Order: sequence, then C-alpha cells, then structure tokens
Amino acid sequence: MSSKSKSKKRSQSPQLETPSDESFKLSRRSFMKATAAGAAVVGVGLSMKPTKLATTTTNPPIFNDNPDTFAPVSITLNVNSQSYTITVEQRDMLVNVLRETIGLVGVKRPCNRMECGGCTVILSSDGGSTWYPVYSCTVLASRVQAPTYQIMTVEANNSGQLPKADPVLAAIQTAWIENDSSQCGYCQEGRVMAATALLKSNPTPTIPEIQAGLEGILCRCGTYINVIAAVQAASASLASS
Ligand code: FES
Ligand code: FES
Repeated sequence: MSSKSKSKKRSQSPQLETPSDESFKLSRRSFMKATAAGAAVVGVGLSMKPTKLATTTTNPPIFNDNPDTFAPVSITLNVNSQSYTITVEQRDMLVNVLRETIGLVGVKRPCNRMECGGCTVILSSDGGSTWYPVYSCTVLASRVQAPTYQIMTVEANNSGQLPKADPVLAAIQTAWIENDSSQCGYCQEGRVMAATALLKSNPTPTIPEIQAGLEGILCRCGTYINVIAAVQAASASLASS
C-alpha cells in the first residue's frame, strides 16, 4: 500500500466518537511532538480520529499536580468487571498496565506508537451501555479509572462466570474461529475488541460499516476478508439467538 493510500485510509474512521472536550483533540502529530518534548500527556492520541473520554467531575486528577511523571500513584481500574487497585507510575500507558501489572497479555503491543491498532481495547463511560475502541498504547492508565470507566479486553469471557460473560464478545470469538479469521494472531485482539464495540452499537452493520469500524487496525497477514465474514456471521448469530 502506498503512503498516499495509507494516509487516505487513516483519515477515514467514522466509528470512533468525536470528543466533546477540546482538550482531547490531539492529532497524532501534536501528540508525538508533545511526548517528544517531554510534555505531560493529558489524554489520548490516536492515529484514527481522537476518541472521546468522559469529562465528568468524578474524573480523577491526571498527574496529581506532580510534574514528576515517574512518581508512583495508586489507581483503581475496572477491567473485565474486576476491580484492580494498583500502584503505577503517572506516565504509565494503559497497555503496559494491562499487560505487565494486571497480567492481561491478550492485549498486544505490536508497535507501541499509535501505528498499528493491535493494542485496541474498548472503554465504556456510561456504565456499559456504549463501548468504543481506543489504542491502549496512547491512553494514560490514570486517565481511565473506575468508577467513570469500564475497560474490556479479549479476556473478558475467560473467568468462566457465565452471568458475567459478554454475549457479543462470545459471538465474535466463535465466529472468528469458524471463519478462520486469524493467521499469526498478532493483530487479532484489537480486531476482536473493535468488532465487539461495533456490534454493540450497530448489530447489523453493512460491509462498509464493518470496514470503517475496524479501520486503523492493520494486519500484515491480510486477514481482512475473513474478518469481515466473521463479523457478519456474529451479527447473524446474535440476531437469531
Ligand atoms: S501498539 Fe498501540 S497502535 Fe500499535
Ligand atoms: S493475523 Fe497476523 S498480523 Fe493479523
């Protein structure tokens, strides 16, 4: 794919919500400039459209007025319906905390620089009614604390506690297997989670809507066709259940 067509593709991402808070409208270029300059990262940057983070008064402080981004802070995250109160550094990104502090290594970190989408997880800031995908390598863990945020990863159905199992994620996972949608698998956690968010908001997406919903998550193995088939199969399965 040429760099021209790549940039055209990434400029289209209609499925991510538009932020209402101007402070979160960070372009990838401005995000990289800010981080390169050692500036405080205040929210989330994406190579797709910026994603909305809730801005309620219950949001915890981001850096606790401490300019030392290495300073330890205690945070509480709700991940896959489990509460984790943990100590992290203020600068820690969500992907690192999920993988290395909590141990959810289903979340992948292929590039760690907002390029691939393989680290995608989904967030809810309205009690689980709506979910949206974010690149977890660009989100400060301290920015998405409970109770404002719920975080879901590909491990959400692994507890064996069926009342807590997510039926949309379960349908997606089954359809992924039945449609042979994964090759090396490196990108697939992000795809599965983005597809889950898509079907939660749009149970019967068209092919262009599926393509848009999963845009920004790159697959070097070229599984795009089978992934679309899996999302369609999951949609049909959920409709008939
Ligand atoms: S690891 Fe986050 S975009 Fe690649
Ligand atoms: S399945 Fe290998 S990168 Fe997508």
